[in-house]
Amino acid sequence: ESVLLSGAATLLGEARRVVVFTGAGISAESGVPTFRDDLTGLWARFDAQRLATLEAFHSDPDLVWGWYEWRRARVRRARPNPGHVATAAIESLVPDSMVITQNVDDLHERAGSRAPVHLHGSLFAPRCIAEAAHPAPFPGTADDEAADPGEGRRLPPPRCTRCGALVRPGVVWFGEALPEAALASAVKAAAACDVLLTVGTAGVVYPAAEIPRIAADSGATVIQVNPEPTPLDMICATNLRGPAAQILPALVAAAWDVPEKK
Ligand code: APR
Repeated sequence: ESVLLSGAATLLGEARRVVVFTGAGISAESGVPTFRDDLTGLWARFDAQRLATLEAFHSDPDLVWGWYEWRRARVRRARPNPGHVATAAIESLVPDSMVITQNVDDLHERAGSRAPVHLHGSLFAPRCIAEAAHPAPFPGTADDEAADPGEGRRLPPPRCTRCGALVRPGVVWFGEALPEAALASAVKAAAACDVLLTVGTAGVVYPAAEIPRIAADSGATVIQVNPEPTPLDMICATNLRGPAAQILPALVAAAWDVPEKK
């Protein structure tokens, strides 16, 4: 393990352009549930079709809004873990670096990441359902203590202050297009980087899962941090099997000879 890690650290330390691509697994040790882990995964406990699609929101806005407010309240109570902190350290140590995340939590930001690219939106960016008409000048939500409705409880969504339409979670639902600008900048960075670290993602949801594959196809070295094997194993030069909160601080310490922040 340490031989693999030191090899990966050497490659990372020498890289000029680095992308850190993250999934739900990097937030697992902050107590934020992943999606596909057995038993604890959100899709093992909840029905994505009833909660994470536009149709679901139209048919039961209170159920969907309540579920996302429950998730947001859990994120507010969570704290960034050493994996998020190490990711922010990579950004500050490598001038040409980018954090690309599939996560809708704000733990990268709270760990010090300047501008993580959110491919699937954010729990903290609610918007008017008629957003095409205008961005929702929707007060609160991003910073208020919004009452945690409790798991699976209904909560009526607020109304847009501009047009009175319903406000929706600012996340990308199944069947919806990813934010164009975010995807374009992620693809560009993946195609240009020397090293891409893929951390805590099963690599099965597209088009986000293309990002590490674009890096590999463009000649980058892809290093994976995940306790389990994933379909990404085959494109990775190194697979560091372990939890991100342990592996990433050790990797950063070894790559740039900085003290390990556990
Ligand atoms: N450290 C690193 N990886 C971990 C940890 C950990 N402590 N704990 C779990 N993992 C790994 C799991 O082994 C799994 O491979 O994190 C991965 C989580 O996979 P998913 O739950 O599928 O999450 P993700 O890949 O981010 O899902 C992608 O699917 O439902 C959609 O929009 C949702 O953004 C999400 C997308």
